[in-house]
Formats: sequence, structure tokens, C-alpha cells
Amino acid sequence: MRLDRFLSENANMSRKEAKRALHREDITVDGVVVKKGDGKIIGQQVHVNGVLVTIRQPVYIMLHKPVDYVCSTVSDDGESVLELLPEEIRKGLHIAGRLDKDTTGLVLITEDGQWSHRVTSPNSVCQKSYLVTVDETLSTDLIEQFNSGIQLNSEHGLTKPAKLEIVSDKIARLTISEGKYHQVKRMFAAVGNHVVSLHREQIGQLVLDSSIESGQWRYLTSEEIASFL
Ligand code: URA
Repeated sequence: MRLDRFLSENANMSRKEAKRALHREDITVDGVVVKKGDGKIIGQQVHVNGVLVTIRQPVYIMLHKPVDYVCSTVSDDGESVLELLPEEIRKGLHIAGRLDKDTTGLVLITEDGQWSHRVTSPNSVCQKSYLVTVDETLSTDLIEQFNSGIQLNSEHGLTKPAKLEIVSDKIARLTISEGKYHQVKRMFAAVGNHVVSLHREQIGQLVLDSSIESGQWRYLTSEEIASFL
């Protein structure tokens, strides 16, 4: 990576600030003052005014999405969940797997495109679990129906086997391994029911931390990040 890009990515400088710092002779590479930003940095030690620049690790976040926030980076349809994060960390982040505006629960946010691909890719076996509240009483027949696959409106083929646990009369936990548009709502609609509220509890091995209130967030631990590798 070029030195000027290395500085802007890791030393919290804009390209312009990096250029000025180079010009002021604030930057050394392996102890030698460097005034131009086009040299390649491959493991050398870069200092700014004598302070070592460490390589910034990508950001990985779990957020408890409230209703009425949208899971897109820019939106005309309400505030983005990214606005729940401090402004100084928002730059370059994207959402790994969207929820509808009226769905609550676990949302993952990162700047690591390969990692989010693993979370969302239709080929990954990353399951998602939802707590679902419906309008009509749930019958136990649905367990087998959802396991065998449901024909969704305007889709070719059945949904992949899904695990339904009936929690109470009108509440169930549904675990799916696909992410079709409005999938959970459409699965219940296909069996003549209607989803009243939807809350994502889990993605892969990662469960929404119960100490995170609606609208709050925290960084993932290295074990949590690695659970998707
Ligand atoms: N399925 C839905 O219908 N909506 C969501 O937000 C997530 C899954």
C-alpha cells in the first residue's frame, strides 16, 4: 500500500493532511524521514512525529435494532441504524444482512466485505433465528410444513428446511438458512397467518447479547468474529 494511503487508513488523517505531514517532515519510515507519499509500505515501521502508527483492525459490531430504523446506508425512508453509532466510527461501515424497518434485533455491522459475505451469502450455512409473534394460533402441523419447505409467492421451488419451535399460542421461534426478501413474513403468509412482530435473536453461533438494550451496540469479541470464518 502507498505511504499516503497507509497514513490515511491507519493514522486518522485525510489524504491532504497526510501530504502536509509528509511535507513538514513529520513522517519517518524505518527511521528515515520520507517526504513523498508514493512509496510502498510492506511491513516497515511508520512513525508520525515519533509515534508508531499501528495497523487499524477492521471494525465488527453487533447492534440491537429498534423498530423504525432502516438497514441501509442511505435512506429516504427513515433513519439508518448506522446513525445509532458515533459519527467518528461510521465511515466505511456497512450492514451484513438487512432487517425490515419494523423488525427488531441482531444486526451485524462491519467494514470487512469478505466477512459480511460469509454472513449473508446464500451458499453459507449461516442460520438465522427469529422470535415471531403472529395473529392466528399456531398449529403443530406447521413444524413439519416448515421443515419440508414452503412455496412462497412468485418464487421457484420450495424454501429450504426451516426449524419451527412453538413457544406459545401465537409465538414461535423460526430458524432459517436463507435470506429471501421478507422471507419470514412470506412463510407465515403462505400458511394463512400474519406476522405481527419479528425479532432476530441469532445469526450463526452469535446470539444477541441480552445486556444490549434496544438502540445500543458493542464491538464483537475476536472469538465472535472468528465464528464466521
Ligand atoms: N424476514 C422478514 O420477513 N423480515 C425480516 O426483517 C427478516 C426476515
